[in-house]
Amino acid sequence: MLQRPPAAARVPIPQAAWTRLARCPPHRPNAPYNLRSSTMIGRSLALALLMAASAGGWPADAQDNAQLGQRLFDVMSRNNPALPPGRRVNHVKGEVFRGTFTAGPDAAGLSTAPHLQGAAVPMVIRFSDSGGFPAVPDRDEPVHGMAMTFLLPDGSSTDLMCINVPVFVTATPEEFITFNEALQASPPGSASPTAIQRFVAAHPETQRFLALLKPMPQGFGTASYFAIHAYRMTNAAGETHDVRWRIVPEAGELTRRPEDAAASPPNALFEEMHDRLARGPVAFRLQVQVAEPGDRTDNATIAWPDSRRVVDLGQILVTSAVANSAEAEKPLGFLPGKALPGLEPGSDPFFAARAAVYAVAFRNRNP
Ligand code: HEM
Repeated sequence: MLQRPPAAARVPIPQAAWTRLARCPPHRPNAPYNLRSSTMIGRSLALALLMAASAGGWPADAQDNAQLGQRLFDVMSRNNPALPPGRRVNHVKGEVFRGTFTAGPDAAGLSTAPHLQGAAVPMVIRFSDSGGFPAVPDRDEPVHGMAMTFLLPDGSSTDLMCINVPVFVTATPEEFITFNEALQASPPGSASPTAIQRFVAAHPETQRFLALLKPMPQGFGTASYFAIHAYRMTNAAGETHDVRWRIVPEAGELTRRPEDAAASPPNALFEEMHDRLARGPVAFRLQVQVAEPGDRTDNATIAWPDSRRVVDLGQILVTSAVANSAEAEKPLGFLPGKALPGLEPGSDPFFAARAAVYAVAFRNRNP
C-alpha cells in the first residue's frame, strides 16, 4: 500500500484511492474497433481511425499524435507485464450487455444526431473495472467503466466511454504518462515520499480526482458515469452548445458501507447486474450538463459548476447479458471522438490522444 505524503503535501485522499494507487498500475494495451448489432458485426480499424480523424480529432502533426498514442499504450502495458495476450491493457475486467436508448422530448432541441430524435436504437454496453488486472476484485478498483455504442438506423454508430468519476486524473496525455511512470516507480514498500506521492502532491488536479472517487456502488446499475470531455451539440436551428455527458441510474446512486464492500465477493458488481436483469431491464437516464460562457471545454480536470443546466435526453435500458461475453468483447472497440451530424467532439486534446492509443491497443489485442 502507498504511504501518505509528508505533512506539507498532505491532501484529503480517500483510503481506497491510495490502496488502488499502490496496487494497481494501469493497463496494458491493445487497439480499438469494431462492433455489434444483433450479429456483432466487426468493423475495421481503418474505418474507426477515419471516423476519428473526421471528428476533427487529429492535431496538425498526426505523426506526433500517433507516437503519443504508442507511448501511452507502452506505459500502460508496463502496469501489468503478466497480462495475457489478447486482453485489454485497461478496463480488462468487463462484461458485455445489450440495451436500448430512447430519446426524450428535449433531446432534439439540442442536437440533430440521429439517436437523439426519438426513435429507440439498440445499444451494446460493456461494464468494466479499470486497470489491467483481469482478476481484480470489484471492491479493490474504485474506477468503473461504462462503454457503449448506439447503433444507428443507417448502419453507422456512435460511442460514449464513461467512468464513474466526473473529471480526469491528469490535465494532459503527457502528464498521464508521467502519472503511470510514477505509479510504476512506487511498488509497495517503497520509501516515502514515493514517486506517486510526489506526483500527487505536485498536481492539485490529481488530488481533485482522488477526492471525487466514490465508495463501492451496490452494482453497476447504481452508479453514475461521465464521459468527462466536452462535446459540441448543434440543433436544427444551427444553435450550438458545449455539453458534458452523464449517465444517471434510475435506481439512484447506491453505495456500500466500507465493511460491506470489504466483505463483498470478487465479482459483486457483475453479479448484482445479473440479479437485477433477472427482474427486468436496468434503467439509466442519459443527460448532458450544458456549459455557460467561460466554462473550460479543453481541460477535463475542471468540473463545471453544479448550477449549470442539466438536460435529460432520454432513457438507456440494459436489457440482457451477451452470451459468451469473453469472446464477444474481443472484436469490440470503442472510440470517444466520432462525429455525427449535430454532435462532435470538443476542443479537448485528449480526443486525439485517445483515438491514437485506442487504435494501438485494439491492434495489439487483435493482431
Ligand atoms: C490519456 C488518457 C487515456 C488513456 C491512455 C486510456 C487508455 C485506455 C486503453 C488502452 C483502454 C483499452 C482499450 C482497448 O483495448 O480497446 C481503455 C479503455 C477504456 N477507457 Fe480509457 N484511456 C484514457 C482516458 C479515458 C477517459 C478520460 C475515459 C472516460 C471518460 C476512459 C474510459 C475508458 C473505458 C470506459 C474503457 C473500457 C472500454 C471497453 O469496455 O472496451 N478512458 N483506455
